[in-house]
Order: sequence, then C-alpha cells, then structure tokens
Amino acid sequence: MTGLAWQVCADASALARAAADRVLVLATQALAAREVFRIALAGGRTPAATYALLRDADTDWSRWHIYFTDERCVGPRDPARNAHMTRESWLDHVTVPAAQVHAIPVEYGPRVAASRYGEDVARITPFDVVMLGIGEDGHTASLFPGRPSMPEAWAVAVDDAPKPPANRVSLGLRALRATREVLVLASGPDKQSALSAWRAGAPLPIAEATAGMNGTVFVDRAAFRI
Ligand code: 6PG
Repeated sequence: MTGLAWQVCADASALARAAADRVLVLATQALAAREVFRIALAGGRTPAATYALLRDADTDWSRWHIYFTDERCVGPRDPARNAHMTRESWLDHVTVPAAQVHAIPVEYGPRVAASRYGEDVARITPFDVVMLGIGEDGHTASLFPGRPSMPEAWAVAVDDAPKPPANRVSLGLRALRATREVLVLASGPDKQSALSAWRAGAPLPIAEATAGMNGTVFVDRAAFRI
C-alpha cells in the first residue's frame, strides 16, 4: 500500500466489512513478520460496526495489543467512553489479554493521562495500524480545527473540545503518524462537507494526521460527494 487510497463502499455495512477485512490482513502480516500486532482504535460511533465484525476473526488474540487514539474524560462506566464502546462491540467478546488493552488512564486527569500515555506510546510505536474517524468539522481523534497542531506531541490534553465532552485526551500528530498504515472510516451524509474540504486541501486535523501516509479512506456513498 503506497499513499492514501479512497474506497467507496455501497453502505455502512459494506464499509464495516471492508475495514474489518483490511485490519485482519494487516494483523496477519504483522503477526507473521513480528509476532505482535499493535492497533490504535478510533472512537465515536462509526467504527463500532467494524469492531463487531472482528469478534469472529480467526486470529491469535494473545498477540494483539490494543491502543486508543483518544478518550473522553468521563467516569469509568460512562457509556461515552471510547473504551466502553470498543469493549461492548468487540473486546469483551474475544480473548485479548486484559493487560494488552492499553486504555488511556483518564482517571488521573487529562494532563497526567496525556503525559503517561504519550510516554507509553512513544516507547512502542510504530503502530501497525491507526484507525481514525472524522468529525463534521474535519477533526480526528480529539484534534480539533483551530487549535495549535503541536506536531511533536505524542499525546495531548484537550479542555475545549467542541464535541462534548470538552475534556479529552488524544494521541497527538506524532503518535497518529507513527504507524505503518492508517485507516479512516467515514459514513453518512453529515461527513460530506468535511470529506470535500479535506479533498480540496483544507488544513484540517484529518489532513495533518494522514498527509503522505499509506492507508485507506473507507467512505460510504452517503458520505462521498464527487
Ligand atoms: C471521539 C472520536 C472522534 C470521532 C469523530 C467521528 O472520541 O469522538 O474519537 O474523533 O471519531 O467525531 O465520530 P462518529 O463516528 O461518531 O461520527
């Protein structure tokens, strides 16, 4: 895979299938080459269908390491947690060792969590794959437009996210780009304008995170306006 390919899928379920298939191809390649597979997961709603399809994967879960591209600073059992969504849709149904699900420790507060997680991620990168969503404003992870991009940051504390909750911890550009491949998932009509702006060259966080990277942007027809 060289450069960023755009794959237009018929609908959200076809997108989920295509993204899950790509994750499993990358996992098989990583396990064969390095005996470990490190994936950083996207939050939000879109990837849940992809994660659910991974439940049935024929893979050696004992060699998977799960990271998160961002986390909302809410209570540990709050369903708004991205870790909660990934566990419900996927991780509670497979046997990835608990110690290999590396949640962002937001219970320490955003600044300490960002510092600690950033150190951990700096130590283990490159990821084999980073999965990203895109917001209607072109944000990705919890990197929002109009904020300093801090290209050297491994992880950042966010206290003014326009998408609630305001307080989050996000991988910074340095971590999001420290990957062999990036997968972006965008589904539904509310992503059309962000995708069009991105393709037109707008300096959006999604553009900064993926510029020059190898990977695939999975879009469904509802999200993609030529
Ligand atoms: C978050 C996500 C965020 C998400 C986009 C798209 O914590 O909110 O990391 O970056 O990927 O906002 O969200 P949807 O998939 O719900 O549209």
